[in-house]
Amino acid sequence: MIEVKNNVYWVGIKDWDLRRFHGHELSTHRGSTYNSYIIKDEKTVLVDTVWNPYKEEFVENLEREVGLENIDMIIINHCEPDHAGSLGYLMEKIPNTPIYCSKNGEQSIKGHFHKDWNINVVKTGDSLKIGENELVFVEMTMMHWPDSMLTYVKGANVVLSNDAFGQHYSPSSLFNDQVDQCELYQEAIKYFANILNPFRPLIKKKIEEIKAMNLDIDVIAPSHGVIWRDNPIQIVEKYYEWSQSDFSEDYAVIVYDTMYDATKNMAQAIAEGLRNNNINSKLYNSSVTDKSDLITELFKAKAIIMGSCTVNNGTLSSISMLLEEMQLLKLKNKPAAAFGSFGWSGEGPGHISERLKKNGMKVDLEPIKFKYQPTEEQLKECVEFGEKFAQSL
Ligand code: FEO
Repeated sequence: MIEVKNNVYWVGIKDWDLRRFHGHELSTHRGSTYNSYIIKDEKTVLVDTVWNPYKEEFVENLEREVGLENIDMIIINHCEPDHAGSLGYLMEKIPNTPIYCSKNGEQSIKGHFHKDWNINVVKTGDSLKIGENELVFVEMTMMHWPDSMLTYVKGANVVLSNDAFGQHYSPSSLFNDQVDQCELYQEAIKYFANILNPFRPLIKKKIEEIKAMNLDIDVIAPSHGVIWRDNPIQIVEKYYEWSQSDFSEDYAVIVYDTMYDATKNMAQAIAEGLRNNNINSKLYNSSVTDKSDLITELFKAKAIIMGSCTVNNGTLSSISMLLEEMQLLKLKNKPAAAFGSFGWSGEGPGHISERLKKNGMKVDLEPIKFKYQPTEEQLKECVEFGEKFAQSL
């Protein structure tokens, strides 16, 4: 156990090896942690568990450090298996322990475990006195599951926020002031872009609601990655910034897939056009770039230019899959344009342009396309295309 603050302890698992999460959907280059917490007061409270592959290690740790018979209640902030996966194994050993969760959490727990446990439903504003401290519950519906909630430990002033404010990051230290800040922020924004972005408007409202509650917050302890104890509000402010519909950083992204470099050459010429108008850009070949990292870059980009050569009357698959993923993650509201080379029919750039519009991007320019390898003259037209796009920003 590691003390977080005033008898609130971390009893989680560091998963150094994790490289893919949510099945294989999300890359986790820096591993992850499953943060579970014990609050020792007149009552001993366990908040969340860990992913089931670690259930034995987790329960053994609890037995050694706390004693299972001493656990008076369990709070399940969110029933996704990376947090509640060990609940079944734990409850086999302490089957009468009361569980507290949101209304949606009750359904989720029953749906996952099919057991008749002592489940107590709580809602926003409900509280439980556990001795010196009081637990206050705040539903976090769709941040990012219907059942999500946070538990505020009033007295210790610790927010146990579950997925919100987390990162897939297995760091050298559990605390934000003891880790590499670039790594930490890369992982925090990647988490937001790939998991929370579809719920951006809800997050903005929820942060406003939590601010209005005027909670004294000394520590924010999420269920993945580091615990924010040094200026914990910094991550709330970042979430508020990221949840704005016009959030972006100061660069464009040109993302393309290419067979024989014609589309790649066009991408580089378009980048030159952007640069001529003081717009910096990053170029990514979507077929060789990690999808989760690419989504993070697209989330941060202030504008997106997307290209593919035409194949079978459409686009290369990495681009069509990326457009689909962008729609699902509700990446929208950015200026965008399309380009690409073709050999015969040339539908690819038009498909991209239409799909960008359908996804909610702002597309004003007609796509630019050229047959086979672009000539010097055509590359100049690509530069001009980049200049025109830049001027429209
Ligand atoms: Fe980390 Fe939604 O589970």
